[in-house]
Amino acid sequence: MKILVTGGAGYIGSFMVRKLKSDGHEVMILDNLSCGHKEAVEGFDLKVIDLVTEKEKVFSLFQTEKFDAVVHMASFIQMGESFINPSKYYKNNVIGFLNLLDVMVESNCKKLVLSSSAGVYGNPIKLPVEETDPKNPLNPYGETKYVMERMLEDYDSAYGVKFISLRYFNAAGAALDGSIGEAHPEESHLIPNIIIKALKNEEVEIFGNDYETTDGTCIRDYVHVLDLVDAHALALKSLEEKNESNVYNMGIGRGYSNKEVIQEVERFGNLKVNVKFGPRREGDANALFASNTKIKKVLGWNPKYDLTKIIETAFAWHKLHPNGYQK
Ligand SMILES: NC(=O)c1ccc[n+]([C@@H]2O[C@H](COP(=O)([O-])OP(=O)(O)OC[C@H]3O[C@@H](n4cnc5c(N)ncnc54)[C@H](O)[C@@H]3O)[C@@H](O)[C@H]2O)c1
Repeated sequence: MKILVTGGAGYIGSFMVRKLKSDGHEVMILDNLSCGHKEAVEGFDLKVIDLVTEKEKVFSLFQTEKFDAVVHMASFIQMGESFINPSKYYKNNVIGFLNLLDVMVESNCKKLVLSSSAGVYGNPIKLPVEETDPKNPLNPYGETKYVMERMLEDYDSAYGVKFISLRYFNAAGAALDGSIGEAHPEESHLIPNIIIKALKNEEVEIFGNDYETTDGTCIRDYVHVLDLVDAHALALKSLEEKNESNVYNMGIGRGYSNKEVIQEVERFGNLKVNVKFGPRREGDANALFASNTKIKKVLGWNPKYDLTKIIETAFAWHKLHPNGYQK
């Protein structure tokens, strides 16, 4: 297939394009480089275009390239910032997506895989969370993902856009050889933050140790980025073969508390993490981990990597690239 990956120069996108290429697909990247890195996708066909302000360019690209499918990863992703500046999030994530979907319909490209988020669930009513459980996002970022999912249902009913929405839990880890990895401009994710700070011997702030969990810290499900991109490849295959829309959770089905993650970093890295417990952060769920029964059964997804491998690969990446992609 000929596939466009929006946000392909970002953390997960840089793994996605490699996976698609190695599977024999033709791949192109659309990214405005607001948070992505051209160094992460050297050798790939990168179009620097903004989905919000450059709809005409997006349209021209679709007219010329005639994509078979789109993997839509372009979004702003910081939950905390989305409270301070919700306009930035709705504009980028929702209007950008609206532009993309309209261009797709006009260009008769009607298959899409969406990077959604476990953030659509908010505080779940039960664990592990199933796809049919209530959606109550706790922050504007999660809300944008839920809006995008509902837009897809309407675009499917009205225009026949078939989609697979993948609700990622926490993506983490790096390439097995440490060559590419997580490098968000403002790192808000737990694992890279702990490792980066530990390697510099700096203090790490953990938001809250008074949650209703066994050790008081939040519980999350961490999925290796390599397993995550495998799921997208399966989703694209399923869209190609069955042309049916669906929604799947993507987590390993087990939760780790922040304290457990810290212990694993300390054990693996043979170092001490300097932790400061701060107040809870608005918009954080208590505990969140996935039921992955559906994606395993229907798409045949079989995650290979555990938390130790996530930490091992992330360590290798951060040690080799202390300044991310900057020289
Ligand atoms: N990282 C996670 O743990 C996680 C969890 C759940 C969902 N997701 C979703 O996965 C996707 C990828 O996440 P990531 O961690 O790789 O983030 P990232 O910030 O590294 O990548 C996003 C990319 O999108 C690009 N982009 C943003 N707005 C754009 C626009 N208007 N036009 C063109 N390009 C634009 C950025 O430049 C960046 O390269 C996002 O949609 C995110 O919401 C990520």
